Amino acid sequence: MLVTVNINGEAKRLNIAPGELLLDALRSAGYFGVKRGCETGECGACTVLVNEKPVNSCLMFAAQAEDADILTIEGVAPDGKLDPIQTAFLDHGAVQCGYCTPGMILSAKALLAGRPDPTEGEVREALAGNFCRCTGYLKPVEAVLAAAQVYRQAGQSARRKSGRSLGTSRKKR
Ligand code: FES
Ligand code: FES
Repeated sequence: MLVTVNINGEAKRLNIAPGELLLDALRSAGYFGVKRGCETGECGACTVLVNEKPVNSCLMFAAQAEDADILTIEGVAPDGKLDPIQTAFLDHGAVQCGYCTPGMILSAKALLAGRPDPTEGEVREALAGNFCRCTGYLKPVEAVLAAAQVYRQAGQSARRKSGRSLGTSRKKR
């Protein structure tokens, strides 16, 4: 059967078997950043964002994704410019073997989209579904807090710029 989905901003038609998992459908379509781990919803390695919410793709049928917006790690830096979360993970040594990293970054992205100034507890809660065997979690948590700060600063400077251009256009009237 065919399912129409929007993956990383591109409309795609995936040819899937009726009981196929979203994890398998995405990997078959070449999105290998979606990692296969436990396949029982425990480890979070297979996390993707479905309509902006983190989902374990091993627990969702591909058919359920009809018309959904899906973000995989491949879509986080589409033009090759790293997202601040990715940069912060690198800067803080939060990437070791890297197997959990795509899922962690997507969970962090969903958190920061709704919560630009999270507490450490909120970051830990957001990452609680992403198991990491290497880092001990402190470094990923520090990285997400640092990325939140970068996002906030970028937001402030964008607001200042738009305030300035609004000021200019008002003077013209
Ligand atoms: S592979 Fe999906 S949660 Fe572990
Ligand atoms: S960096 Fe290895 S599992 Fe997290």
